[in-house]
Amino acid sequence: MSTRMSKPDALNLLATESRAKIDRWLAKYPPDQKQSAVMAALMIAQEANGGWLTTELMDAVANYLEMPAIAVYEVATFYSMYELTPVGQHKLCVCTNISCMLNGSEDLVAHLQNKLGIELGQTTSDKQFTLKSVECLGACGNAPVMQIGSTYHENLTSAKIDDILAGLK
Ligand code: FES
Repeated sequence: MSTRMSKPDALNLLATESRAKIDRWLAKYPPDQKQSAVMAALMIAQEANGGWLTTELMDAVANYLEMPAIAVYEVATFYSMYELTPVGQHKLCVCTNISCMLNGSEDLVAHLQNKLGIELGQTTSDKQFTLKSVECLGACGNAPVMQIGSTYHENLTSAKIDDILAGLK
């Protein structure tokens, strides 16, 4: 990953609209604590870039928040909601943590893999769907759970997944 980009070049990568959104987050923190907005800033940059982060965008976030690029990379690589490669139009995040696993998430993943013709971590050739396994989504009481965008689909079955996919196509 590069840190050689000059500051003005890096800042230009963040759309004006993105910077305005990040500024609203920055307003919540003391001026010397800009790094507190890093998770929100990364998500804003990712959404403005079709769902994934380039190294240059992470560098731009680092510059904007006046923090080391390596610290931004660490956040972006640690949390599963950030993508460092292009994703499909719909990101299917199936929880495979304990409650969901005990309620059949492995079968649901197999169903999705079979239906979409891809493995976990892959994107369909038409760029419509990316399939991911994620950790607990915090909705264990309604396991198994899958997140698509900001929507949780709960108490999932293979039949429900078929309906969801049909609705997205
Ligand atoms: S284990 Fe799947 S939502 Fe918690």
